[in-house]
Amino acid sequence: MSDEQLALRLIQQLPVGACLLTPDYHIVIWNDFFADRLKMPAAELVGKNLLDLFPLKAKFLKRKLDSVLLLKNISFTYWEQHPHIFQLKSSRPVTGDEGLMYQNMQIVPIFSDDGEVQHIFLAVTDATAAASYSMALKTALQQLELEHAAQAKLIDRLEEAHNQLLQAEKMAAIGQLAAGVAHEINNPIGFISSNLETLQHYSQTLVAALDFAGKLLQQSASAELKTSYQNYQTQHNLNFLLQDMPDLIAESLEGSARVMSIVKSLREFSHVDSSEWKETSLIDGMESTLRIINNELKYKATVHKDYQPDMPLVYCQSMQINQVFMNLLLNAAQAMAQPGDIYIRIFTENDAAKVSVRDSGTGIAPQHLKKIFEPFFTTKAVGTGTGLGLSLSYSIIQKHKGNISVSSPPGQGAEFVITLPLHKIPEFNTDDQQDQPMENIK
Ligand SMILES: Nc1ncnc2c1ncn2[C@@H]1O[C@H](COP(=O)(O)OP(=O)(O)OP(=O)(O)O)[C@@H](O)[C@H]1O
Ligand SMILES: [Mg+2]
Repeated sequence: MSDEQLALRLIQQLPVGACLLTPDYHIVIWNDFFADRLKMPAAELVGKNLLDLFPLKAKFLKRKLDSVLLLKNISFTYWEQHPHIFQLKSSRPVTGDEGLMYQNMQIVPIFSDDGEVQHIFLAVTDATAAASYSMALKTALQQLELEHAAQAKLIDRLEEAHNQLLQAEKMAAIGQLAAGVAHEINNPIGFISSNLETLQHYSQTLVAALDFAGKLLQQSASAELKTSYQNYQTQHNLNFLLQDMPDLIAESLEGSARVMSIVKSLREFSHVDSSEWKETSLIDGMESTLRIINNELKYKATVHKDYQPDMPLVYCQSMQINQVFMNLLLNAAQAMAQPGDIYIRIFTENDAAKVSVRDSGTGIAPQHLKKIFEPFFTTKAVGTGTGLGLSLSYSIIQKHKGNISVSSPPGQGAEFVITLPLHKIPEFNTDDQQDQPMENIK
């Protein structure tokens, strides 16, 4: 066998697809790799135009071959960009399934002695194994990323639940403290105000007695007695004392009445038993909350109330609902750059109870609207806001099978509307609520 025959046989039996072409794409050599797999024997193909034989890939092959002819340089294609140039079959690693072969292709110019491209050599190698592993790796990585994202979400949820628990515990502790303080103050303020009332009666009798004594003295003949009484009166400012005393007692009575009303509000607000579900008046809840945070509101906003007179009771956990009211009212007050207005409406609509808290504050920027119910979202200075108020409110309302929505037309402050079902709902677990989309931004 001559060297030439040997070289030809080598090419025929190469474990890669080998094809030699003329510069006008006609086949000179077509090896067994192609012939066997494509069932296209060399005898039928030699002398034919490669582009005519593979019309679907003709455009792509022509572009590649032309670039080699023009640039006189090797060109490559990889399975990732062009996986199946020729319809070759190959079995997959591991599974052994037969499928289309992933191919890498090299196109090599063969030069004549005068440096012109005389032939083009096309070598196609089977990259199925590498491609399969690479794709399996990619799928595994994607799966891993998905699992990672799910884990991160789970951790976020856990963290959120933990924070809500902390906040709820804090509220319960404050509630208990308030209830304790209220209880301790309740007794003394009770006897202070009842004693003051008795004192008021006594003082009225004393004033009348002194008045009577004065009149008697005026009528008596003794000038000496009159003078000494007048001196005593002047020396001790008796007239002023008698005038001032009823005012002092009235003011004290008013003060103690105020303390009693605060104590009552504290007790109402902190109802230690109010984690219980029961029929509650939203108006009473709002009123006791307003009394509690009166100090925070009074210099910042005028509160306008519009309560539906025949407002039905709502089955809820009153302390939690009060906490939502408090968060909304405090946010409204904190949004005031200068003293403004807070409008509260409590009414029924479409078989639901509604509470609207609207303010004339700075409003909420459109890009913040979607985030305000997220835990820890705050625009307030470090140490001022924790960013938990609204997220907690959101979950409380969710737990009540209600809805809380927000709107903030530019330049018109913000309005939060809570909707609560009017029918009695059984207590339920909140797990199935977690993934509800926030369709509450208007
Ligand atoms: N009525 C409102 N007007 C303008 N912005 C508001 C209003 N209510 C809430 N926001 C915005 O939503 C953010 C989140 O409110 P949220 O009550 O959850 O937290 P916070 O008030 O910042 O802190 P925290 O309530 O924990 O003290 C606020 O920082 C504020 O930017
Ligand atoms: Mg807040």
